[in-house]
Amino acid sequence: MSLVSGPGRGGGVADLPAEMRLYVDKHVTYIQSLDTRKDELEYWLTEHLRLNGLYWGLTALHLLGRLDALPRHEVLEYVFSCLHESGGFGAAPGHDAHMLYTVSGVQILATLDAFDELEARVKGGRLKIGQYIAALQDRETGTFAGDEWGERDTRFLYGALNALSLMGLLHLVDVDKAVEHVQSCANFDGGYGTSPGAESHSGQIFTCLGALSIAGRLDLVDRDKLGAWLSERQLKNGGLNGRPEKKEDVCYSWWVMSSLEMLNRLHWIDGEKLTSFILQCQDPELGGLADRPGDMVDVFHTVFGIAGLSLLKYPGLEEVDPVYCMPKAVTSKYVSKR
Ligand code: FPP
Ligand code: ZN
Repeated sequence: MSLVSGPGRGGGVADLPAEMRLYVDKHVTYIQSLDTRKDELEYWLTEHLRLNGLYWGLTALHLLGRLDALPRHEVLEYVFSCLHESGGFGAAPGHDAHMLYTVSGVQILATLDAFDELEARVKGGRLKIGQYIAALQDRETGTFAGDEWGERDTRFLYGALNALSLMGLLHLVDVDKAVEHVQSCANFDGGYGTSPGAESHSGQIFTCLGALSIAGRLDLVDRDKLGAWLSERQLKNGGLNGRPEKKEDVCYSWWVMSSLEMLNRLHWIDGEKLTSFILQCQDPELGGLADRPGDMVDVFHTVFGIAGLSLLKYPGLEEVDPVYCMPKAVTSKYVSKR
């Protein structure tokens, strides 16, 4: 049975053998439990990622068809408590604003259909957020900084285009310059790195293809060359790595597969073997997914594992948008078909 071209969405899970089962209820319970573990050290050690964590958890729940498993009102209160006067979001209340948390903030507001609530609280809220993001663009090179301190990386460029396009505010930045910058990060192997000359890395390839896709410029990519490099990321055990000579890791199921999907080359990997690898990374008792079988689970690998399974058309999962890592049902409300 091929799960890529196999049973399709919306049923058939009960017929699958035990080792092909996704423990949906366990994963929902695991995500719900994340905010109740305030007596655990890990909760506080991950405070610098809190708004990202909320986006990862909420997206996983939505793909599992259980968006209502987290209280909408409380989630929104938390998100608004991370919003600064500048229009940027911090990781948690009292933390400095940064591009990556601002993108998560916008993604959560879009997922919960809450832009009206934002406007009711902060007049011109969307525009303020858009202006915060736009001010981080280097108008000379087209790239973006993560915050006022200036570190630059294609992650921030992608994040900017992701959030601005969800808010209908792409015109606030120089998209052509941003595309030029992405092109300057392209390598001879067809891949992309963090900045010009940096080694190709699947995470960065996702960000560059995502940015080109939002800009409507995937025509600039050599699909076969990059598709071949990406398909070589699959190892004998079915898992994918991020670069040559590295170990397999569930999050690369997302970075690599979403990239292949954007290139229309997802069929270049063995979907059945990868499905099996991702499912082996589940904790069947407490829920959640780990980077590889037997390791500790975390919400980062949980969302990217589930989103990867969605790309593989695992039965019963909501369809994910490979460009935004959000449910297609959400992104289709805000962005027109690419
Ligand atoms: C690997 O990271 C992943 C990347 C470099 C891409 C990260 C992309 C973003 C943060 C943009 C936002 C993403 C979404 C889905 C909205 P790593 O540091 O784990 O790499 P390593 O495996 O080499 O350590
Ligand atoms: Zn990982």
